[in-house]
Amino acid sequence: MSLATTSTSAPRPLHSLPGPTPWPLLGNAPQVPRGRFHQQLEAWARRYGDIYQLRLGPRRYLVVSAPDVVGSVLRRRPDEFGRSRRMEEITRAYGFLGLFSAGGETWRRQRPMVLGGLDPSHIRDYFPALLDVTARLRTRWERSAGQSLDLQAELTRYTVDVTTGLAFGHDLRTLEQDGGEAIQDHLNVVLPALYARVLQPLDLPAWLRTPAQRRAERALQGHLQALREAVAGFIARTRTDLEREPALRERPRNLIQALVAARDQPGSGVCDEDVAGNVLTMLLAGEDTTANTLAWLVWLLHSHPQALARAREEVDTVLGGAAGVQSAAQLAELPWLDACVQETLRLKPAGPLVMAQSLRETVVGDVLVPSDAIVVCLLRPAALDARTFAQPERFDPQRWVGGAGAVHAMGSAKRQVMAFGAGPRMCPGRYLALAEVKLAAAMLLACFDIEEVGTPGGGEPAEHMAIVMAPVGLRMRLRPRRRPATAGAAGA
Ligand code: HEM
Repeated sequence: MSLATTSTSAPRPLHSLPGPTPWPLLGNAPQVPRGRFHQQLEAWARRYGDIYQLRLGPRRYLVVSAPDVVGSVLRRRPDEFGRSRRMEEITRAYGFLGLFSAGGETWRRQRPMVLGGLDPSHIRDYFPALLDVTARLRTRWERSAGQSLDLQAELTRYTVDVTTGLAFGHDLRTLEQDGGEAIQDHLNVVLPALYARVLQPLDLPAWLRTPAQRRAERALQGHLQALREAVAGFIARTRTDLEREPALRERPRNLIQALVAARDQPGSGVCDEDVAGNVLTMLLAGEDTTANTLAWLVWLLHSHPQALARAREEVDTVLGGAAGVQSAAQLAELPWLDACVQETLRLKPAGPLVMAQSLRETVVGDVLVPSDAIVVCLLRPAALDARTFAQPERFDPQRWVGGAGAVHAMGSAKRQVMAFGAGPRMCPGRYLALAEVKLAAAMLLACFDIEEVGTPGGGEPAEHMAIVMAPVGLRMRLRPRRRPATAGAAGA
């Protein structure tokens, strides 16, 4: 047993903690609304405190939200906590066992490979690909000027094209076409099935499945096999490219080249199966998270005209009339846009909770946690703590840029916004995600006037939580900006 705190008194047992009153057998499951469970857990944190218990069926969960306790749990991975064993089993069965779901030795050998492929120097090498997709998003929006667009769907096309381009070395071009690619058809079946299975609390035994469910399962197996073959094909093609152009091993142009180059290093300890699992994991971890963050950012900017005007002024000054950012250096010159993104992540984290499963008996805060228990780490309460963030519910980018109204201890405030998690399993895709978000936002500000962004009812969009948290029902209407355009690389 290990201790997270140096308390002198004996730790409290998990069952003694406060928490919502459970129903017989079902526990608190009926009180946890589908799609809004993160908000219910946050509401209970306000009521029962920053460490409480919850029961789903027979299983007891510990829910924590104090930043030091959350940080301590997340930092004690991979030795004392893993992600969820169930998620690891499901993703293994689907061929998606990659860094997000793997535990133990598999995670340890994969992490350096993925981290290397997503580090800032590689993101700079991926820039031409990112600029190309951003320019295609601009063309798409120019063509649909004046129309009411489904914001989420638009931005998902953008992140799908970025992510598949980098992960497969083959961009699905969803910005230009609907379907038509066999691999997209397989993904359209496999990804929803995988999400549904992860979200469902228990698996039905095979003998309880209906004939329709068995037929769906057989069809799914066919798609999974085809997907495995397609990814094996991408890996083989990448290897041919690396043999033809060995310099790509040092300066890969996409993620799959970086992963294959790392895997082929003598003594890397990783195999093609690890590469395949991580190529597919990028789609799971990188698409919706980034698209949702962008959608919230666009809505927050539109709802705060002063912040938007300042962001546009900054973009116009830095881009000097070009239709988009042209280099990684230019992207680093947008501190106000950075602050707007930071505020978006503080208020609307795409992943508002992180689950950790204990690998042995341990102590969290002052609570004794048995082996195999699930600890739910809520990330948003710390980011909304009024002791650090004045008027915490307000979208106020000024707090991140210094001067009047800035957060006092910037470092500790930043640590309280854990939108990318914390510790050894912190999101390795954050540099890529921030680049994508800022490239698309800068292009939007430079090239378009936002005529409207909102929900049909006109109110604040509801938050919907499945695997990640998304705004519901946002639509957007754009008008090309009237300005002297000197198209740059992103606009060429
Ligand atoms: C704004 C967009 C994103 C957000 C808010 C986000 C958030 C997160 C969070 C909260 C975690 C859990 C961290 C932890 O357990 O401490 C995570 C893990 C992860 N993310 Fe992201 N993410 C984003 C974009 C991306 C992108 C673009 C990629 C890759 C293409 C990516 C790949 C991953 C992977 C592989 C993990 C698992 C890391 C591990 O367990 O070692 N993410 N992300």
